[in-house]
Amino acid sequence: GDAAVLVPAAGAGVRLGGDVPKALRELRGESLLVHAVKRAAAAASVRLIVVAAPPHLVSEVRELLTGVDADLVVVAGGASRQDSVARALAVVPEGIDIVLVHDAARALTPPELVDAVASAVRAGHGAVIPVLPVVDTIKRVDSNGDVAATVDRSELRAVQTPQGFRREVLVKAHAEAGGEHTDDAGMVERLGLPVHCVPGSELALKITRPVDLIIAEALLTAEVA
Ligand code: C5P
Repeated sequence: GDAAVLVPAAGAGVRLGGDVPKALRELRGESLLVHAVKRAAAAASVRLIVVAAPPHLVSEVRELLTGVDADLVVVAGGASRQDSVARALAVVPEGIDIVLVHDAARALTPPELVDAVASAVRAGHGAVIPVLPVVDTIKRVDSNGDVAATVDRSELRAVQTPQGFRREVLVKAHAEAGGEHTDDAGMVERLGLPVHCVPGSELALKITRPVDLIIAEALLTAEVA
């Protein structure tokens, strides 16, 4: 492989409830993080995986990941996702020119999606995101709870991870990003650089709310993930 995958896993996961950081929540006896890292490690394009762990749990996270067959580094994450990504990016060695930024919370992301994103970067796109069409009708709502507008759904896409970048594009985006961004591609857009979309995967859902854990369990039971 020729790509590094950064896995920010340092969030508290307040919306999911429970008292362990979200990435360490278990799904079928394995943490979300281990699920995510195993699937990334199975992608042919991946040479290195860098995990950003909660700072007080770095050695525990190293221990959790000992069974995974991959070249793997665990660093302490930061106060925000952006900060955690920056810390992981800082340890990617020279010579790796394709960097993917993933999310431990997208634990069931298939290796095929990781490879599809890396391939699109290899094919010449400086920034690549996996996307799905939006199935719900989306409305803009004002502070009184009244509908201000219905947005044209055909123009909208839901964005997943891994997001893929030429290394220098991601480095520049992080160096020049002002404020907080929830998404690395958003920082690239701010630089005025193009971001290319590839088809995402239903299996790459973000496990955020309690219902998402139930869906993820069902996907594993059905052996589709
Ligand atoms: O909170 P949210 O679901 O947006 O977090 C997305 C990802 O970023 C999660 O995998 C989480 O662990 C990670 N994160 C992080 N460092 C933080 C906050 C979130 O690595 N300080």
